[in-house]
Amino acid sequence: MKSIVKNPDLAASGAERMKWFRERMPIITAYNERFKREQTFRGKVIATTMHIEPKSAYWIEGLLAGGAQHIYFVGYLGTTKDDTAAYLASLPRMTVLGKSDDTYQEHLANLDAVIQNGRKINLFLDNGAAFILAHRRNHPGWQPDGANEETRSGRLYIEQEAYEAPYPIAVIDDSSLKRLLENYTGVGQSVVDGFMRATSLLVGGKNILIFGYGYCGSGVANKFKGLGANTMVYDTSPLYQLKAKVDGHIVGEKEELISRADVIITVTGSFGVISAEHIPLLKNKVILANAGCLGFEIDLKGLEEKADRKTPLRPGVDKYTYGEKAVYVLANTHALNLAAADGNPIEIMDLGLALQAGCAERIIKAPETLVNGLQNVPEDISLEVCRLSLEAQG
Ligand SMILES: NC(=O)c1ccc[n+]([C@@H]2O[C@H](COP(=O)([O-])OP(=O)(O)OC[C@H]3O[C@@H](n4cnc5c(N)ncnc54)[C@H](O)[C@@H]3O)[C@@H](O)[C@H]2O)c1
Repeated sequence: MKSIVKNPDLAASGAERMKWFRERMPIITAYNERFKREQTFRGKVIATTMHIEPKSAYWIEGLLAGGAQHIYFVGYLGTTKDDTAAYLASLPRMTVLGKSDDTYQEHLANLDAVIQNGRKINLFLDNGAAFILAHRRNHPGWQPDGANEETRSGRLYIEQEAYEAPYPIAVIDDSSLKRLLENYTGVGQSVVDGFMRATSLLVGGKNILIFGYGYCGSGVANKFKGLGANTMVYDTSPLYQLKAKVDGHIVGEKEELISRADVIITVTGSFGVISAEHIPLLKNKVILANAGCLGFEIDLKGLEEKADRKTPLRPGVDKYTYGEKAVYVLANTHALNLAAADGNPIEIMDLGLALQAGCAERIIKAPETLVNGLQNVPEDISLEVCRLSLEAQG
């Protein structure tokens, strides 16, 4: 199957950009060396939907060096770096289906095409349950040996469909390591980075409303607060409202908070958190952005339908006009830290991708230790990743 990328001529610049990332990911380096030595994935076919960017590309290099027969890499929505996609597509035994401007329909068609390709896939290294559910809806007549699921959202989609997969699925997000370090620390920093790169605005003094005060949202709110924002939080759970209040954020009624916000960021995993019905409440010149897994947290289609005009102002910033009111939307509501910046910090993704690597290795080498369906990352893998990280930090 041939790759579909935006511009294959970007392969050389994509390769060049890899250098810094390889230097700064000691845990993935350790896994990659082991995979190469032991040929862990010899003869195995792998399909993944992690974000196409340099950190995940380094992890892919290790799977290839570890003998993978073929890897299908389908880009996530709105987060593909076109130079990295071109670089990966230039490697042997790779098919890359991902462009920075893929539509949701193209994304689904890419997933279906890989499943319908007629070739059994041994491993799904999944994100948002994209391949797991594509496999289910296409009934290809084969089962994978196992899967990883990166996100909380992916777990929820599988549970919502009451899908009892006849193969093991290690949920990376169930690991305390991922939640505490990636979701809280990493997403917090990188969403602030995405906001600053997209807007070039000062954070201090702004009324910033965060929807969702879970692992990611609390990190985002606390990092913005550290830069001097007046942070406000809305969470549907009274427990998390309370936690936000005692952490020093303003909490209250949803409508009241929306009407005071200069910036609104959703990070809940739920659909339609902000929709056209909120337009009358929004302040003039409010900025809307999403940091959750999928952009559907903000109902952009609904906002567009009600707008008098849409004006692109700069890359990643669109202005919607409603009479005298302007509403700015960042990165087309795709995950702000990935779409407007480089995603989570390198050290953080070194940890997260190492969990992916360790679980993939376990599915291949010791499947008898796993059960079918959703399960946590085996504790010894989390501990090994922590140990490698501590060693690397000296
Ligand atoms: N951008 C990234 O790099 C990145 C990284 C990891 C996870 N994520 C995504 O971020 C989202 C949140 O992840 P998390 O780990 O914080 O999950 P979480 O379950 O810890 O937190 C979600 C919070 O949102 C609240 N919530 C749910 N629906 C809501 C609504 N309609 N309004 C207000 N609050 C609501 C919940 O009560 C909960 O407290 C998920 O979609 C996840 O996949 C993004």
